[in-house]
Amino acid sequence: MIEKKELLSEGKAKSLYSTSNNGELLMVYRDDTSAFDGKKTEALKGKGEINNRFNAFIMEYLSDNGINTHFLKETSNNESLVKSLDMLPVECVVRNIATGSLCRRLGVEQGLKFENPLFEFFLKNDELGDPLINDNHIIAFEWGTQEEIDKMKELTFKINELLCSLFDDAGLILVDYKVEYGRHSEGLILGDEFTPDGCRIWDKETGESLDKDRFRKDLGDVVESYQIVAHKLGISI
Ligand code: C5P
Repeated sequence: MIEKKELLSEGKAKSLYSTSNNGELLMVYRDDTSAFDGKKTEALKGKGEINNRFNAFIMEYLSDNGINTHFLKETSNNESLVKSLDMLPVECVVRNIATGSLCRRLGVEQGLKFENPLFEFFLKNDELGDPLINDNHIIAFEWGTQEEIDKMKELTFKINELLCSLFDDAGLILVDYKVEYGRHSEGLILGDEFTPDGCRIWDKETGESLDKDRFRKDLGDVVESYQIVAHKLGISI
């Protein structure tokens, strides 16, 4: 029996607890949903459970395909046990199709498909609105080493290949997503989560958004859309 101990941090949608197992933490997926750096928030019933399930499925799929992740196991409907990592303060975003902040920033056409997926680093800082940064910022401010930068890019592109094909087979398009990494005695490994809260997924036939854009844009049926994606991927809920 894993005992939940001290609350270590409370993010916008997840809480992290220490446990009786040394070096292992409990990640609790809450129903809370937030967008625009916390300016829009709402609790969406059932989202914590679906995200916990969704994340477990993706993390196990990635692990089966050679990506080392912090995920260990689901311990309840909305909780999972993970390895404790020393997280790097950066977000890695890969875009297969232009949309979201990229279009606002560069004035490019929405829906432009990239022959070569685009990789971007953002600094994790809500007050600053998670600004775009590059490799040199990471080195100059010592947020990570060159080796870690190279590893993050290599892993994030490998994840892209694996997940694009997984989603494509399920009739879905993986438009873009964000992942985060942390240091562990095993090296730099995938941390945080992979859920429809942190990626964009479009239906291949209709182009309909089935991710957190439904919340951002007030389209409704947020949790229902996450369930549709889970169902198409064969995730048992
Ligand atoms: O907003 P933007 O277009 O830059 O987002 C790119 C991708 O990264 C989207 O899938 C979005 O859900 C994800 N993202 C995230 N957390 C952030 C910023 C972006 O999950 N803080």
